[in-house]
Amino acid sequence: MDLQQQSYRAVKFLVFLLAAGVLVADQSQAENPCANGPPVEMNPAECCATPMLVDGSIMMDCYQKYGEQTKKQLKLDGVPRGCCIAECAMNATNMYADGMLKRDDVAKMFMDAMRDKPEWMALVRDATNACFELAASKMEEIEAGAKLEPSFEGEKICHPISGVVLRCMGMMMFAQCPPTVFNDTENCKKLREYGSMCPML
Ligand SMILES: *[C@@H]1O[C@H](CO)[C@@H](O)[C@H](O)[C@H]1NC(C)=O
Ligand SMILES: *[C@@H]1O[C@H](CO)[C@@H](O)[C@H](O)[C@H]1NC(C)=O
Repeated sequence: MDLQQQSYRAVKFLVFLLAAGVLVADQSQAENPCANGPPVEMNPAECCATPMLVDGSIMMDCYQKYGEQTKKQLKLDGVPRGCCIAECAMNATNMYADGMLKRDDVAKMFMDAMRDKPEWMALVRDATNACFELAASKMEEIEAGAKLEPSFEGEKICHPISGVVLRCMGMMMFAQCPPTVFNDTENCKKLREYGSMCPML
């Protein structure tokens, strides 16, 4: 594997990790099934090679710009902060404006990315609808996140909508990985179960 492919894989993995981080933010600590972390130490990409939804070089560029700040932000409590990697990618593809994603264009971009991957098409179409519905149901929290003030030197505040949708997509795709793609081992089954409810970073 050459270097570029390797970094694409790394980015893909990271995007996946970010992807998993949304749905449980407001779960109570007491019955939190995620409290102990993933049950197995495995790279999710070894269990399900999820295809990229956004051009790899764009993701890489955005990760370079905002990866460090995103890692810091994930450690903060309170209202979830917007993911600037995701917003940067949605800006670069012209999908984001004024606190909104252009839903039809995003759906088309995702489907175009699946052009040569028929086993993913129906899943990605359904996941796109589900993730936009999820975002709509979380609008209050999303708007609150957009209004946060920087909490450390140089923190850029991004609108959470892009991250919510991209993370949700990653989580859905992993949780529903097509049988032809899924690495059907005990460990991977455990990770899929965990990954369908918990953030993995
Ligand atoms: C499938 O999972 C096993 C461990 O459960 C791992 O060793 C192997 O590398 C995985 N295969 C692929 C293609 O990633
Ligand atoms: C995305 O574009 C908007 C302008 O539409 C800008 O305000 C915002 O800072 C950009 N976000 C990133 C992460 O570059």
